[in-house]
Formats: sequence, structure tokens, C-alpha cells
Amino acid sequence: MSRKEAIVSKHIDQRHLDKEPEFNRFSEAAMSRRNFLRATGAAGTVAFFAASPVAKAVAGTVGKSKLMGFSAIPASTADTVVVPEGYIAEPLISWGDALFSHSPKFSQSNDSKAQEMQYGDNTDGMSFFPLSDDRAVLVANNEYTNNEYLYAHQGKSISADDVRKGQAAHGVSIIELKKVKGQWETNVNGRLNRKITAYTPMEMTGPARGHDLLKTKADPTGTSILGTYNNCANGQTPWGTYLACEENFNGYFAASKDVDLGGTYKRYGVGAKDWGYDWWKHDERFDVAKTPNEPHRFGWVVEIDPMNPNSTPKKRSALGRFKHENAALTINKDGHVVVYLGDDERGEHLYKFVSKNKYKPGTHASNLDLLEEGTLFVAKFDGKEEEMKGKGQWLELTFGKNGLTPENGFNSQAEVMIFAREAATQVGATTMDRPEWVAVHPNNQHVFCTLTNNKYRGVRENQGLNAANPRKKNPYGHIVRWQPTGSDHTSDSFEWDIFVMAGNPEVQEGLMTGSSNINKDNMFNSPDGIGFDAAGRLWIQTDGKYSNKDNFAGMGNNQMLCADPETGEIRRFLTGPIACEITGLTFSPDHKTMFVGVQHPGEDLAPSHFPEGGNAIPRSTVMRITRKDGGVIGA
Ligand code: FEO
Ligand code: CA
Ligand code: CA
Ligand code: CA
Repeated sequence: MSRKEAIVSKHIDQRHLDKEPEFNRFSEAAMSRRNFLRATGAAGTVAFFAASPVAKAVAGTVGKSKLMGFSAIPASTADTVVVPEGYIAEPLISWGDALFSHSPKFSQSNDSKAQEMQYGDNTDGMSFFPLSDDRAVLVANNEYTNNEYLYAHQGKSISADDVRKGQAAHGVSIIELKKVKGQWETNVNGRLNRKITAYTPMEMTGPARGHDLLKTKADPTGTSILGTYNNCANGQTPWGTYLACEENFNGYFAASKDVDLGGTYKRYGVGAKDWGYDWWKHDERFDVAKTPNEPHRFGWVVEIDPMNPNSTPKKRSALGRFKHENAALTINKDGHVVVYLGDDERGEHLYKFVSKNKYKPGTHASNLDLLEEGTLFVAKFDGKEEEMKGKGQWLELTFGKNGLTPENGFNSQAEVMIFAREAATQVGATTMDRPEWVAVHPNNQHVFCTLTNNKYRGVRENQGLNAANPRKKNPYGHIVRWQPTGSDHTSDSFEWDIFVMAGNPEVQEGLMTGSSNINKDNMFNSPDGIGFDAAGRLWIQTDGKYSNKDNFAGMGNNQMLCADPETGEIRRFLTGPIACEITGLTFSPDHKTMFVGVQHPGEDLAPSHFPEGGNAIPRSTVMRITRKDGGVIGA
């Protein structure tokens, strides 16, 4: 084995998410009954939106947007961030940069103690919390690590301190910002600065708190959990807290000896081998042969109070355990807190949480635990496959209802939450093409969810073609949109359509070319991060193939686009460096600064030196985007 092969063999298999087990909850018959795609000639028109009230606005020809005032940029394969004319993109903070005044300077050979004082790796979802006109807090997830860059030895032999360093590079970084000469800069002296790691003590709350399935030798009460990791995307509450969502937690577990892991482990992808992190070798929490309940303690949404650096983060089990993407929170018109949640795995589901109690502005203490109690629902999309629109229902995941009973293997609400995926199957939820981020329109209550791609349809079970996931093969992904009945997010019904079907009009035919709002100048694949700004512009970030050839010819590096939800127009706004993903976005309240995450430039030893250039190793980086004329981003 050459040195490069040896390194590659230690690469962590986070990117392609190919580790899903083949589970059998859905019958083959149910899948084969569905017709594979009948090309409806829809490519080139968005006519399939026509009758849906949600879709009316984008029916027919894509209109010119009044919302977007910038000139679209071309696709790029350059090792840099490109933004439209009149815009400036500058690095704000990178992996290994100081979080504190006493943090050591970044070096690839930094140890765990240094990493605990530095910005974590693989920046992902993030939120901006204003404190005053010139002071704020940026809270950001550090999703995972790349051995080839995290360690000077590139992961060839992992020591106990290497594991500790990896765990410290995960989690959540909290850093104050201050305005210097009109620009937001990091403030290493900020009193709120904090690094939350894979071993920061957390409290379990909600229905699963204290359940036997959460008890371990180290925590016989099942209430006190060490750490959070693989924090993908995020959420922000109006009461000033941050939601960090645990995604591919399974990839960190391995078994030091043969153990019979049952179907519930398999459904969550926990198996005998990890994805190359090697934590289990030095931390027996991650050895399922020794600590079989530890996997039940991850896969949750974690609520963090960034205003109190001594606060204990709370895992919110009422929001269910799955591979969480983001937590799109909105306050319903009646005051209930509604959180939309994607489970990012091929053939998994889309969820909605409705709080028991209501949000009361100005009563901080009474809002702090609104996510502790409520009802979880899962989406069922109805409709004809060829129409790509229809109605849908939210199915309740409550013990004792909808077949969530002991006869079907559910003995308590705790078990319904711990095994939310199985509960969703039990009630008949729709299988989706990897639900990633959800975003709620700030003005009209329409909700959007990215379905990033699905290469397993027709290859593995539980990948059935359905109206909301209508492509036989879906290498490009799409964005589904729905309107809750009566614009009431607590309603158990909705109408839906498809906002955009990504594709490649240059090399494909039929539905693979994409919907009519896709053209040779804005094409992309694998939409992932999405978010609205206050004016209602929809920002779309991609985590796709960047080969720039074959199916993906002309798409270039991963990118960020901006869409007008009214006209359907989509324009490319930003292109990232080599082998990165663009993920994470937040704005200053005046929307004159936008923060965008560049994750893992140069993954798999691709030739990136972003952001420093020269011979520097590439580093995940939060970019600060401003306009030369000081205007609003995107306008
Ligand atoms: Fe961390 Fe589904 O992306
Ligand atoms: Ca993502
Ligand atoms: Ca993704
Ligand atoms: Ca990624």
C-alpha cells in the first residue's frame, strides 16, 4: 500500500453516507407496486405546479425577480470563494483559530488541550445572536473531522490524546463578535466564548429522560450525558437559545468483540465498525460491546443557552431520535412552538414537533423549557406520482395511538422517541430522498425542505418511488414545499408541490434536466442547507458532486444560490473552493453582513489550500460576506 493509499484508507466515510443498513420495514411489494417514473415531459415547464395554491406563484414561465438585485455568477472550479460583482467575501474564522485570548496558535500538531481553546473543524449550521449594535455572539456547529488534516500523522495510528483532540474538534463553538471599523470581527476576549465538545456534560430532558435504554455504567440514572457531536445543522429560538442537531452519530460506534446488535441498532446504522474515527479504541463509551446503551444517548436535538457560558446544554428527547439535520422553528399564530425536522437518510422521514405550552414574548424563564414537552408528528405525502403535488398529513407519534402500542413493540412514549424511525414506519410515514434542511418563509408560512439525492431507489429496499420523491434515480435532488392548512402550523394537513427539481439541462433528457427554473447558468446538484432572509429570499447551499463532468458537467464546485419563491427564479450567488461543501448561513439583523460556512475544502486530499493559499493545509472556514456599498445582501 502506498502512503497515499494508507492515508485514504483512514479517511472518514462521512461524505457519501453510504453506510446505511439495508432494513426491511417496508415490503418489496409495496415498492414494486409503484410505477417507475412516467416521463411527463415536465422538464422545461413547471406546469405541474399549476393548480396547487402553494404552487400558483411559480406556475408558467419563470419570472424576473424583483427580490434579487445581484448579477448571477458562473460555475467555478477555482480554489476560492467567488461572489457577485460589488460583494466581498473574507474569512472570519477557520478551524484551529483562537476562541480565547490564551488559545495556542493553530498548528496541525496541536494537541487536545489546544483544540479545546480553538474553533472546531467542519463548520456547519450557525446562528447570529445580537447583543447590541456592535456586539453579538456567533454560535456554530463543528460537525466532524477529516483525519488527513486533523492529525500531522493523518490518522495512521490514533493515540488517546488524538481521540480527545478529535472529540474537542467536534461540537459547538461559541464566539463573540464585535464591530471594528464597521465590520464584524471575532473577539477572543468575549466573556461568552465557549467550546462545547463531545465530552461537555449535558442533561437529558423530555420523555426519554431516565429510561433504562439510556442508562450506562457511567450514568446509572440515564439523565446525564457527556457531549454532543456530528452536529449538522441548527436552529435558533426567539428566547435566545441555539439548537444543535446530532446527525451521523452512528459513525462513531464500533464493537471490540462480536455482539448481537438487534434491528433497532441496524435501523440507525450502528454496527460493528465505525467510520474511521477510532474513538472506540480509547473511549469505551464508543465500544458498543462495552456500552450498548451509549448510541441511544445521541441522535437528539441539543438546546444551548449561549448567553450563559456555565449553562448545561439540554438534549430535547421530545423532538425524537434520528439523524437530525436542522431544526426549523417557527412560532405559530396561536403561540405554539413548531419545529420542522429532517432525518437525513435515504428512505427516512420528515417530522414536526408542536410544543405543549405556548411562547410568551418577554417571559424568558417560562420559555426556556418549551421544547421539553409536546407532540411529534411525521409527514405522509399523498398524491399521484406524475402530478408532483398533492395533499399531505401529519401523523402523530404518541404512545397508545396509531398502532404505537406494546403489540407493535412500543411500551412507552420514551421508546417511541428513542426509536422514532420505527414509530414513523409503524404509522405509515412517506419515505423521502434524504430530508436535509427545512426553512419556513418569514411572511406566508410556506415551508421548504431539501431532498438532497437518492441513489438507492430500485437498488435497496425502503426507497419507494412516490409523489413527493418522483424520480426513478435522483442524483440531483429537489426541494419540496408545503402550505399548512389555514396557514396554521399545528394543522394536521397540508398541500404540497415541488419548488425545484435540480438537474442538468445540458447533458440530460426528460425529468433529469430539472424543472423549468433550472437552466445551464444556474444548475446545481444536492441542495442541502436552506434558509430565508427577512425579505423572503430563499438561500440554497449545495453538498453535491463537484467532479464537473458527466452528469455533473457544468456545475463546478459546491455553491450557494438565491431563489425568489414567488417567481421561481434561481440565481447563483457564491461558489466555493475545491472539494468543499457550502453549509451554514446566518445574517446580522440589518442583513448587511451574511455569514456562510465553507466545510472541508480539499477533502480526500484534493488540491485545496483554502483559505490561506500557498502550501497551507485547507481549513473549514466561516466567510463574512458584505457589499462594497454597504447594502443589504441579495437585494
Ligand atoms: Fe450533515 Fe445531512 O448533512
Ligand atoms: Ca447538511
Ligand atoms: Ca448533505
Ligand atoms: Ca459535508
